Amino acid sequence: MAIAFQPIQDGFAARVTGVALASELDRETVAAINDGMDRYAVLVFNRQPLEQAEQIAFACRFGALDLGLRKAVIHSKDRTYAATRLDYEALMDISNVDNDGALSGPESRRMLSNLANQLWHSDSSFQQDRVSYSMLSAVICPASGGDTEFADMRMAYDALDDATKAYLEPLEAEHFAFHSRELLGAFPTEEERDSIPPAVWPIVSRLRNGRRSLFIGAHARKVLGIPTAQGRMLLMDLLEHATQRSFVYRHQWAPGDLVIWDNRTTLHRGRPYDTSQRRELRRTTILEDAA
Ligand code: OGA
Ligand code: MN
Repeated sequence: MAIAFQPIQDGFAARVTGVALASELDRETVAAINDGMDRYAVLVFNRQPLEQAEQIAFACRFGALDLGLRKAVIHSKDRTYAATRLDYEALMDISNVDNDGALSGPESRRMLSNLANQLWHSDSSFQQDRVSYSMLSAVICPASGGDTEFADMRMAYDALDDATKAYLEPLEAEHFAFHSRELLGAFPTEEERDSIPPAVWPIVSRLRNGRRSLFIGAHARKVLGIPTAQGRMLLMDLLEHATQRSFVYRHQWAPGDLVIWDNRTTLHRGRPYDTSQRRELRRTTILEDAA
């Protein structure tokens, strides 16, 4: 069966059939998935449960794997981020389950990460090494809630008026790893703060195909060259504009779903759920090819 893409919304998000992700993919299939990502920015694969090794093998076909926040603290005295119950360092445990297998408590660091993931963001936008795709594979889903929403930053850019586009064109924002946690009232230790210096990115990205896209989200804390308060207001206004329902695809998870999104052209956020139920997903994230 040949790989096929069935668009979910107008030019944004597509369901993919005709490919078995756990098998070794040929080069043409990988190229087709890359083309699909350029076009739709979010791809949904249903009923494709992956073992940990299979998810790592699949992800590696798209580039080198990112370690996200874990990388910065992996050598630190504080082992909270470094420890994992999963078999691979590059597999992120997106769950409400502690390393000992028990449900995470409301005050736990894992629950804080979960909540930070409920703010609109682009994975790892806070680091110098840019990332391309994230891939989330669902293992256990709660009976209701816990959807993930994706917003198309290309459509959001296109819908801006010309004066706003011109104003934004030269602007850059500073993205800081712990800003989203600070928004939730949780402040990093000095060691954590120093371990990931902020990164600066243009607010308007130019894509290879000539289109433009907004690059914002919960890690962005300052617009360079304008007062902090004014910059934050601008970022909040842009975020509100960019996450209108017409730009959003909401994914309702079933076990075995794999969703891939492009962090350069989309924002995403988790939605709340009853945290007395298990929700277990595993994420791999790809570093952008420097070439
Ligand atoms: C992520 C993320 C949201 C969710 O894994 O990067 O933001 O719904 N997840 O779990
Ligand atoms: Mn995320």
